Amino acid sequence: MSFPQNFLWGGATSAHQFEGGYDQGGRGLANTDFLTSGNRKNPRRITLRLENGERYDAVKSFHGITIPDNAVGQVYEDTYYPSHQAVDFYHHYREDIKLLADMGIRCFRMSVSWSRIFPKGDEAEPNEEGLKFYEDVFEECHRYGIEPLVTICHFDIPAFISQTYGGWMNRKTVDMFVHYSTTIMNRYKDLVRYWLTFNEVNILDDYECTGTTEHGMAVKYQVHHHIFLASARTVIEGHKIDPDFRIGMMEANFYWYPETCNPVDSLRRIELSREWRDYAIDIQVRGYYPNYLKKLLERNHISLKTEPGDEEILKEGKVDFLGFSYYNTSVATTRLNAEETGGNVISAVRNPYLKDSEWGWQTDPVGLRVILNDLYDKYQIPLFIVENGLGAVDRLEDGKVIDDYRINYFHDHFAQLKDAIELDGVPVMGYTSWGVIDLVSNSGGEMDKRYGFIYVDMDNEGNGTKKRILKKSYGYIKQVYESNGSDLDIRKEYNVYE
Ligand code: BG6
Repeated sequence: MSFPQNFLWGGATSAHQFEGGYDQGGRGLANTDFLTSGNRKNPRRITLRLENGERYDAVKSFHGITIPDNAVGQVYEDTYYPSHQAVDFYHHYREDIKLLADMGIRCFRMSVSWSRIFPKGDEAEPNEEGLKFYEDVFEECHRYGIEPLVTICHFDIPAFISQTYGGWMNRKTVDMFVHYSTTIMNRYKDLVRYWLTFNEVNILDDYECTGTTEHGMAVKYQVHHHIFLASARTVIEGHKIDPDFRIGMMEANFYWYPETCNPVDSLRRIELSREWRDYAIDIQVRGYYPNYLKKLLERNHISLKTEPGDEEILKEGKVDFLGFSYYNTSVATTRLNAEETGGNVISAVRNPYLKDSEWGWQTDPVGLRVILNDLYDKYQIPLFIVENGLGAVDRLEDGKVIDDYRINYFHDHFAQLKDAIELDGVPVMGYTSWGVIDLVSNSGGEMDKRYGFIYVDMDNEGNGTKKRILKKSYGYIKQVYESNGSDLDIRKEYNVYE
């Protein structure tokens, strides 16, 4: 038996891409509620009706939120913002959880929307209706023996904090976050055991969370210092609430192969890895700032605003496990004009040995085994693959989606995961595939890029019945999950349409 008996097979989602009900149950606006839809050609935009009546409209660029500081604003009624209804888990949760249970999942990763619990973010008392909604969802999971894995912050933050306090640049946000995280941990302590503090923490500063327009290295590391403190304090407080809690970090896993055996390519690989990935893991798993980061800050004349006791907090608030997303790998090279391709969050250098997805993200199953070994060798802590999957254009024909490409993708990744556990002895706690039910793409804000085993009838503009339809891959995943990974056989017929 290669997979541990209690291996957490499951699926993953996030509130702003999946939940909807943005103005229901007393929820406040989140920063993500200002993001328009987009597609491969047209980037998402941030649009805001400012308090003085002017229109704010900017492209959501990679480098940061472009909501101006202290700009309190409203959404436009005539604009489609995908997070507002997403795929409406808010009203479909019973049906969705049943479909997932029937597929054999043991673990459901979802995030709590901070502004559903604290609509503005700085209130003393939480919104009971919001708390009750998630309580019902978690109870529904437990009816089927499904263990929730809860991301406390998946890119969203109450818009009020972002716009009034300057988001994560302000140390007060740390206190507001800890108030929020401990509120939900106390409330759900009998329903939730597995927690992730921040989704893809290593790229968070570049996302919607800062509420500032000035970006640069000083902002990046100051924002991160606050986020790391918020995470560490959550771990410390969480363990007081229940010592059995398993509280993890979550990073976007970037991995570079040196392009050649020229030593400078290997050096480049180390630099890239430290810049984009390692520092976040080093701080959250080891509990202190690594020397290379201290030197980098020193060289750039950056002195972080810290307070006495911060070092102790980071040391005491080390995470219990390391969760990560895995979509593609890249290539480290010092060569100018290397050919680029797409990738999760940051673009990649094309690897001639790998195939592109429709979005240019290069599929690399063996890379999963490489990364699992690399992370465990380095950090010696249990690992959890909390996102992995294939974004593709699916065709619904005669009520069916025949997605053999997705079955192949998962088969190949599961085979490598199995080898990492069985042959290499890497301790992996679980695997939750991304977008297990179709949801809104984060980068494009569109529905065309689908990840699920369950199709949702909805288009890029939010039109459709929202009906859930099983894809062919649902049958394959059911076979794998129900056999605890012992039956990966791809040649069988998985007829979900009989
Ligand atoms: C990760 C995020 O970066 O990748 C998810 O945690 C996101 O929120 C996923 O959806 C896939 O990216 P995309 O852009 O294809 O939705």
